[in-house]
Amino acid sequence: MTNVAVVGTQWGDEGKGKVVDLYAEDADVIVRFQGGNNAGHTLVVKGVQTILHLIPSGILHDHKTCIIGNGVVVDPAVMKQEIENLEKRALFPEHTRLFVSEKAHLIMPYHRRLDVAREARKSDRKIGTTGRGIGLAYEDKVARVGIRFCDLLDETTFMEKLRDNIEEKNFYLTRRFEEAPLDAQQIFDEYRGYAEYLKPFVADTSLIIAQEMRRGKKILFEGAQGCHLDIDHGTYPYVTSSNTVAGNASCGSGVGPRAIDRVVGICKAYTTRVGEGPFVTELTDAVGEHMQTVGQEFGATTGRKRRCGWLDMVLVRQAVRVCGISGIAVTKLDVLTGLEKLKICVGYRTAAGEEYTESVPANLKALAGCQPVYQELDGWTEDIRHANQIDDLPKNTRKYIERLEILSDAPLMLVSVGAGRESTIVLKNPFGD
Ligand code: GDP
Ligand code: IMO
Ligand code: MG
Repeated sequence: MTNVAVVGTQWGDEGKGKVVDLYAEDADVIVRFQGGNNAGHTLVVKGVQTILHLIPSGILHDHKTCIIGNGVVVDPAVMKQEIENLEKRALFPEHTRLFVSEKAHLIMPYHRRLDVAREARKSDRKIGTTGRGIGLAYEDKVARVGIRFCDLLDETTFMEKLRDNIEEKNFYLTRRFEEAPLDAQQIFDEYRGYAEYLKPFVADTSLIIAQEMRRGKKILFEGAQGCHLDIDHGTYPYVTSSNTVAGNASCGSGVGPRAIDRVVGICKAYTTRVGEGPFVTELTDAVGEHMQTVGQEFGATTGRKRRCGWLDMVLVRQAVRVCGISGIAVTKLDVLTGLEKLKICVGYRTAAGEEYTESVPANLKALAGCQPVYQELDGWTEDIRHANQIDDLPKNTRKYIERLEILSDAPLMLVSVGAGRESTIVLKNPFGD
């Protein structure tokens, strides 16, 4: 049986949620493997929008198993609220099961407080985090002082770990940031409530996935963020704190690397970025404004305006290489309708005259000095939102995606022309032969 990973090829918000929801139809198990509620994945089904931050984007389908893997950092308050919201809207299907790994680390109130306090202190070197405590929770995980779901369910261990953490975190909060300290007992009481509520969902999810695979079930791994927000391969330090690349689908869910047969890279037809950091093809003119307004480019988590620019194939080519992408899904093509000329960035030229065509310079100063090298194509004015097949698309639209396919060196799997599940042209089924 084929298992598929879906990852972002840019800086997040490529439309992963929409594609995962669509592919989930053919999958049995859908697994989030990294990140946390910094993610905002939008699904539009029968005109109704749902934004998910933690729960896998397969949840709207019945008879599925949805898993939050060990690589995810989980704010239990957000997980509880997300479940309650879905239930309230009658969107949690009767036969679909949800599990969270007993090894997943918890986001604690001090992670959020310190995330916000740190960012507020940095004047010109802000990362522009989502303020959800993601980086701080991963720091604690690596420092071996993190608190996991299995600890939450054991009152004594939870209190011990909490007290140790609070002592150190309050030192930072009060002495470094001159903020009010946190109270361990208050957090303990609050988190007892989450433990009670979430206990039925906590499981050995690596084992569940293995059992499902043995039964011939198909697994869909759902990435969050994008390749260039990866802690190792992204535009460091303007990145998130987890590995967002496809390889982490293995570590972050507890399956071997051979379990991932195909990797679909989601590529927005232009580029966006939320938060700070270099952006070679960024546009601050009327074209950028067009992308921002027509594409409704506001963060699904923080509501911040997303920065917009031309499609950057240097980013995408690096993502194809680093993630082992076997197919590309192009999204938001409809947003480019009406632009007279379209540009695709095929290379960067540094101030010293060097050219980069398939890798992003690691040195941020070099990257900041890069100029884009563009190829120009003609735009189209026809409404493409109701296209069902490639032949329905205008000639210039087809030329644009053909160029994208050639430059990415990966076959085109899907073209998305609207936010709704139905506004999609599927060229190849990733679970098929
Ligand atoms: P994700 O984080 O990768 O899941 O992406 P987000 O949900 O944060 O952002 C993508 C946004 O674009 C959402 O508002 C989607 O509903 C919307 N969207 C997805 N695909 C398309 C498309 O093909 N056309 C248009 N116009 N909107 C789309
Ligand atoms: P999805 O899954 C876009 C960005 C933040 C910030 C940086 C670090 O919806 O594509 P963090 O809070 O993770 O420490 O912030 O990463 N960021 C995202 N940008 N989409 C996301 O997720 C993001 N998750 C984090 O804006 O620049
Ligand atoms: Mg998003």
